[in-house]
Amino acid sequence: MNEKVVERLAQAKSLLVITGAGISAESGIPTFRGADGLWKNYRAEELATLDAFERDPETVWQWDDWRRSIIGKAEPNPGHLAIKELEDMFESFLLITQNVDGLHSRSGVKNIVEIHGNLWRVRCTREGKVSMLMDIPLKSIPPKCDCGAVLRPDVVWFGESIPSYALDLSFNILEQCDTLIVVGTSGVVYPVASFPQTVKDNGGYVVEVNVEPTPISAIADASLYGNSGDVLPMVVKWLRERKGIKA
Ligand code: OAD
Repeated sequence: MNEKVVERLAQAKSLLVITGAGISAESGIPTFRGADGLWKNYRAEELATLDAFERDPETVWQWDDWRRSIIGKAEPNPGHLAIKELEDMFESFLLITQNVDGLHSRSGVKNIVEIHGNLWRVRCTREGKVSMLMDIPLKSIPPKCDCGAVLRPDVVWFGESIPSYALDLSFNILEQCDTLIVVGTSGVVYPVASFPQTVKDNGGYVVEVNVEPTPISAIADASLYGNSGDVLPMVVKWLRERKGIKA
């Protein structure tokens, strides 16, 4: 581990962590892009858009039911747990995740923005009421609300806006954080793809954790290449030693 990186992280006053599908890869959840990525076998516009859902809710829900069955068996991995430890180490901490799998919350992280929603939540297409739906597999596809209307997953599809509370919280922390660790994202989906540059523009320090270079590597102050389940626990261990915190 690069000592300079640890020294700089140890001085952080306000830490922002951003995660993408890569953090959950070691929990057995497929990522979207890359060799085994989900979008290799499925067309995003057929499955993750409002148009697709309105045209064919069964197909969209069948795909999500399949993803829910994988996520339902998954457990937080050492990368998720290390991020929880980072939360406990810094007074000002926020996690922005693009993941809809809920694994960060299951690892105990409290200060979290699920900017693309959560696959365990559903929203009534008539009343907009949001509730949890934990059935695996779903009892009926598409699932229906008590009012009889079709339920949709409470996630952000391509072409949809991020909920304003999630954006407000994110922009607020982007203004004040001095350090960003960005983990396991290909950095191509907006708005999150622009966040590392915003932190840099505000004079902040950016560390990337990924198994391979991404567009973020070009602006990151340091890139730590490896599985997040290996790299993040190491970062935590070094920080603990540097700050004199017992495990
Ligand atoms: P991607 O699938 O685009 O990228 C996953 C990233 O994780 C890649 O850069 C991999 O190199 C990296 N990676 C894979 N395994 C890793 C590991 N063990 N440790 C560290 N890094 C690893 O996923 P996202 O960037 O999250 O949006 O995708 C962003 C959004 O695009 C998703 O939230 C989703 C998708 O379409 C919606 O559904 C709205």
